Amino acid sequence: MKKLNIVLIALLGLTAVSAQADVANAEKLVSIYSAIAKNANPNYTGPSAADGKVFFNRKIKLGNGKDMACASCHTANPANEGKHVVTGKAIRPLSPVVNAKRFEDFEKVQDKFTQHCVDIIGSDCTAAEKASYITYLLTEKTPTAKK
Ligand code: HEC
Repeated sequence: MKKLNIVLIALLGLTAVSAQADVANAEKLVSIYSAIAKNANPNYTGPSAADGKVFFNRKIKLGNGKDMACASCHTANPANEGKHVVTGKAIRPLSPVVNAKRFEDFEKVQDKFTQHCVDIIGSDCTAAEKASYITYLLTEKTPTAKK
């Protein structure tokens, strides 16, 4: 993952990023991850919200036999508040459209992303998966009405 970090930082160096979190930052991240994906695979055709949605809801069997998806904690609607399956703690919505605090700090996002992918999938997600995933988050703008 060192290599990815270096590429990412190099790209970040070229793109002045405002400290302000929000949709623009998330979009910037999509273009960075897309650039990395394109670099890794010249046939890469760009991020897809549909792929991101599948990725988000895909259930993966963990070592303990339990099925877990990103949606397990973040809920099937990333515009909703999530709930940690283990600790029961509330998690603020992941969608940057709803929660301007998301994707504020690129380093933090990168670390969390890698950490969650390793926890759930067993290895880091690819740049293409990350680009699609954030693209998908950007399409989720409306929280589901609370029951
Ligand atoms: C076991 C519960 C759990 C699962 C499963 C989970 N997450 Fe998370 N996620 C969290 C918690 C807790 C936070 C941090 C809460 C916060 O920052 O408000 C978080 C934060 C994040 C963030 C940070 C966003 C930011 O701007 O800080 C990203 C990105 C993320 N998760 C992606 C994923 C992805 C991708 C998956 C599936 C591969 C996933 N998560 C699965 C619990 C989970």
